Amino acid sequence: MWQVNFLFLLELAGRGIATFPTQLIFQTPGGQALENLAVRPSSKLLITSTAFPTLFTLDPTAANPTLDEVFTFPNASALTGIAEYRPDVYAIAAFVFNSTSIMAAPGSVAIWSLDFASGGTPTARRAARIPQSILPNGLSTVPGQPDLVLVADSILGEAFEVNVRTGAVRVLIQDVTMTPIGPNGPAPPLGIDGLHVHDGLLYFTNAQRQTFSRVPLVNGTVETLASGEFDDFTFDTEGRVWVATDPGGLTLFTPLKNGTFEQKLVVDTVLNGTSSAAFGRNGARETKTLYVTTRAGQLVAVDTSGGDA
Ligand SMILES: *[C@@H]1O[C@H](CO)[C@@H](O)[C@H](O)[C@H]1NC(C)=O
Ligand SMILES: *[C@@H]1O[C@H](CO)[C@@H](O)[C@H](O)[C@H]1NC(C)=O
Ligand SMILES: *[C@@H]1O[C@H](CO)[C@@H](O)[C@H](O)[C@H]1NC(C)=O
Ligand SMILES: *[C@@H]1O[C@H](CO)[C@@H](O)[C@H](O)[C@H]1NC(C)=O
Ligand SMILES: *[C@@H]1O[C@H](CO)[C@@H](O)[C@H](O)[C@H]1NC(C)=O
Repeated sequence: MWQVNFLFLLELAGRGIATFPTQLIFQTPGGQALENLAVRPSSKLLITSTAFPTLFTLDPTAANPTLDEVFTFPNASALTGIAEYRPDVYAIAAFVFNSTSIMAAPGSVAIWSLDFASGGTPTARRAARIPQSILPNGLSTVPGQPDLVLVADSILGEAFEVNVRTGAVRVLIQDVTMTPIGPNGPAPPLGIDGLHVHDGLLYFTNAQRQTFSRVPLVNGTVETLASGEFDDFTFDTEGRVWVATDPGGLTLFTPLKNGTFEQKLVVDTVLNGTSSAAFGRNGARETKTLYVTTRAGQLVAVDTSGGDA
């Protein structure tokens, strides 16, 4: 069913580098990797790291932002994907990470729910276990389905659908475009990395195949949109996609009227090992600010209000 169809919808003609002002907001003291982030309604950031079982928070509007602990998950050593599936309630992937094998310890993968909505201390609940998961990575909500999240598995090459209310887990999509190539391919040996649902389509990157693709959520055929060293990504309100790109940049995909995308490398300095990106919330300035995490432990604010993109 999930056939590969290498439709290269990309317009290469528009390639070029646009620059946007950047500001380093925080750097982890030991260079510990920052992996993913979500922006709360309060505009505070929630940040995951593969180096800690702890969810951190940071106020990007503070004069001297600090990275503060919010919650430490039991039976875990690493966190990856995070997404807000109900207002101020987040699903987070936690597991025991073996950094030698680049796999989760067997049976350790869990999706937790962290609820800030009641105010005060957040309440944590293990929403589901995914015992068959080998390496959970990106995590997405499903618009219109507030109990469901999708979780990418970078080794199995599939997307799980997790019901965070009942704990039910099923494989939603398994496709060769989501699998890693294997030990003979380029580093990292990871397949599907970031994933996000937008307008009924599941968009995803594959780290080792170096592709950005999309597939209809129901009975679809995978279209590969572009090639590049892509990680996680986010959509803006204009339907443009800002994709973390190695070794240290962001790629901006702008949809064109004829259904193709223009691709531009934007911000190719400062960032080192770009891992994910999310827009700020609250006010004109914050909503135009893209917060970017890197595997070198940087949190960088990109002012997307100007630039020539
Ligand atoms: C932690 O993991 C152990 C062994 O894998 C398991 O027996 C125990 O129930 C887990 N505890 C929690 C809180 O998940
Ligand atoms: C981590 O993976 C390596 C390589 O596969 C393996 O030799 C080692 O035993 C694993 N470590 C743990 C704690 O399971
Ligand atoms: C869609 O997929 C389902 C499950 O694989 C299948 O039963 C159904 O016939 C498919 N529908 C179409 C229109 O292809
Ligand atoms: C789509 O539109 C762009 C910009 O107008 C143009 O350069 C490109 O050739 C078009 N591609 C297709 C497949 O129509
Ligand atoms: C990027 O970060 C790595 C550690 O993650 C470091 O070894 C390397 O020197 C950094 N590169 C640059 C250009 O700063």
